[in-house]
Amino acid sequence: MLKEINDLSLVNSLSDYQVTFNEFNKVLGYFVDEKLVGFLDYSVIYERLEINYIFVKEEYRRHYIAYNLLKYIIDNYNLDITLEVNINNHSAISLYQKLGFEIVAKRPKYYNGIDGYLMERRAS
Ligand SMILES: CC(C)(COP(=O)(O)OP(=O)(O)OC[C@H]1O[C@@H](n2cnc3c(N)ncnc32)[C@H](O)[C@@H]1OP(=O)(O)O)[C@@H](O)C(=O)NCCC(=O)NCCS
Repeated sequence: MLKEINDLSLVNSLSDYQVTFNEFNKVLGYFVDEKLVGFLDYSVIYERLEINYIFVKEEYRRHYIAYNLLKYIIDNYNLDITLEVNINNHSAISLYQKLGFEIVAKRPKYYNGIDGYLMERRAS
């Protein structure tokens, strides 16, 4: 079940990544039996949407949870979506490509000396 999360302590207990709320960002959670097992942190900045982070608990991976979190955003906002990803994060890159994202630029040394890709999905 997908649900917007307003409780920072709930989402920040799930992974090392820590969400900080500001006026632009939102967190969508994925719940199994009322337990949070994944989340998508994203920002709606006027006419574009930026994915900040997506995470699924290890034991729940490969069940299309991340796919459905992203699909919800794609279906509910008719906006261009951008994100940055570590070039070595092949699972995430494959996930994004499956949902129509394309690599549009390389970000040299974006992740502690490791390059990143800027990926984009244009609104239809
Ligand atoms: C990346 C991540 C969010 C994927 O979550 P998930 O719920 O397991 O992904 P899904 O089950 O929705 O996968 C959908 C598609 O993504 C790709 N994918 C996901 N995990 C993959 C893996 N380990 N290896 C290869 N492709 C993978 C595949 O194309 C997959 O479709 P398929 O199962 O038909 O092959 C998860 O591995 C994770 O939390 N990783 C750690 C955090 C992270 O790296 N976040 C991205 C930061 S930019």
